[in-house]
Amino acid sequence: MRKIAFTNQKGGVGKTTTTINTGAGLSKIGYKVLLVDMDPQANLTYSLKIHSSKMKNNIYHMLKGQLSARDIVMEHNGFDLLPASIELSGAEMELVNEPAREQILRSALKEIEDDYDFILLDCPPNLGLLTLNAFTAADELVIVLQSEYLALHGLSKLMDLIKIVQQRLNPDLKVEGIVCTLFDKRKNLNREVVGHIREHFGAKVFNTVIRDNIALAEAPSHHKTIFEYDSQSHGAKDYLELAKEIRNGY
Ligand SMILES: Nc1ncnc2c1ncn2[C@@H]1O[C@H](COP(=O)(O)OP(=O)(O)OP(=O)(O)O)[C@@H](O)[C@H]1O
Ligand SMILES: [Mg+2]
Repeated sequence: MRKIAFTNQKGGVGKTTTTINTGAGLSKIGYKVLLVDMDPQANLTYSLKIHSSKMKNNIYHMLKGQLSARDIVMEHNGFDLLPASIELSGAEMELVNEPAREQILRSALKEIEDDYDFILLDCPPNLGLLTLNAFTAADELVIVLQSEYLALHGLSKLMDLIKIVQQRLNPDLKVEGIVCTLFDKRKNLNREVVGHIREHFGAKVFNTVIRDNIALAEAPSHHKTIFEYDSQSHGAKDYLELAKEIRNGY
């Protein structure tokens, strides 16, 4: 079982899209997958599920110790997810005085983690307590970068946090890879940025680059993964390739 968090404190770079569709890709090639929505925006949850009353049972209640992972787990066409809701925004504040507050998610996942081959965690766009919980629960990180100017801006702060987590909370945590998203090959700037990222991070950068593809932006409004929405799209091809690269990671 591998636990992988998709992260970048920068907003709108493709973390949620990548978590969902890499997970769906891994599920498609035969693995048991759980997605974990650690973002109070709950974009992952709403991209797959119509906002239903069942969402009343969500990660917020799990982190507060009121419900277990098994109580809140939902199914989506071959894989599972732990849903979030806006209530989760309260958790940052409410958990501040909990003992071992960074380790709550890690402990809560123990109950179900052996049911899965891959657990993929979607992080919020900040480096707060929910992100710290994801970094403490995960074994691996995938950094998601948009193929745009300033892609690397702010990354040293993320790297510093990863070092601190490795030192204090999770010595096994490693950066599995870096994925470039929203790539438009017609734009010279995109090509330059990806070239620069490869120079900077070398073999850590996945060979697969996720192209800018309208189907990826449309699929969530239909509550579908890219494979359900348009299995012939560039988005479906790219995320299947990324899923295979991540699978081969070991
Ligand atoms: N490869 C792509 N091609 C086209 N649109 C994309 C692609 N990847 C993501 N998008 C769209 O870009 C927007 C931001 O993507 P996403 O929500 O995955 O980013 P995020 O990093 O999770 O954002 P946040 O930081 O707010 O959680 C969404 O509208 C999404 O549908
Ligand atoms: Mg997101």
